[in-house]
Amino acid sequence: MSENETTSTEQPVRAHEPAAVRDSAAARASAGEPAGGPHAERHIRSFTPRRGRITDAQRKALERLWPRWGVAVAEGTRLDLPALFDTLPPDAPTVLEIGFGMGEATLRMAADDPGTGILAVDVHTPGLGNVLRLMEVRGLDNIRVAEGDAIILLRHMLAPASLAGLRLYFPDPWPKQRHHKRRIVQPEFLDLAAVPLAPGAVVHFATDWEPYAAHMLRTLEAHPAYENTQPDGGYAPRPDARPLTRFEGKGLDKEHRVHDLLFRRR
Ligand SMILES: C[S@@+](CC[C@H](N)C(=O)[O-])C[C@H]1O[C@@H](n2cnc3c(N)ncnc32)[C@H](O)[C@@H]1O
Repeated sequence: MSENETTSTEQPVRAHEPAAVRDSAAARASAGEPAGGPHAERHIRSFTPRRGRITDAQRKALERLWPRWGVAVAEGTRLDLPALFDTLPPDAPTVLEIGFGMGEATLRMAADDPGTGILAVDVHTPGLGNVLRLMEVRGLDNIRVAEGDAIILLRHMLAPASLAGLRLYFPDPWPKQRHHKRRIVQPEFLDLAAVPLAPGAVVHFATDWEPYAAHMLRTLEAHPAYENTQPDGGYAPRPDARPLTRFEGKGLDKEHRVHDLLFRRR
């Protein structure tokens, strides 16, 4: 059993030392394993392990705040979301944000909507430290950061119908044809997400890569578990609630056109 795994079935998992502190990502990468750990079941490989530079402030925030607000992604664990978001009422909605990067959207949306819990997952440790640090600075208590592969989280860790929403902002576009299978938005990903999403849950994707936007639209439209909120079946106007993120800014600098997709779980 790896040190990330646990035999328990339901708990708010937080007692975990983040990879940035152990500095084990490099060891896993050199062993040929993904940053999410040795998970044989994972099919979509939407990221490559990388070693981001972490500032002292981010590292200190990780060391200090991880036990309070961190979640280890692990196959053997089912999250108890009301217990995890113990600062919110037990019936507070929870949304999952996949690939939050440096957390610009996470932090702003958490501040704008303090009654909603945001479970934010990424494999990028400087971002985990950044969000933890700024949560404390800004007095936010409605974010929990999960370290690891969102595919594992979706497949193993969330109860059916436990999420009120799913956010995926500027996922890696994998523009080369031979890498398209690495795009996280695939029918299989939508199958996995359909289980924890409650009926009516809002699914919000955004990308600045036009071919990926078209692929997202086609894939969502073709999936029976989701319906487009747009009567014309197209892209949605950018919701005011979605702040500018680092990757969106880079796309806009290159004059990319940004598309939002707003669907609902049937
Ligand atoms: C292009 S960045 C976008 C970050 C951020 N949403 C933004 O708009 O600035 C994509 C992020 O998704 C993360 N990511 C990719 N695949 C992932 C997966 N399977 N599980 C968790 N995070 C993932 C990457 O580590 C990266 O931080």
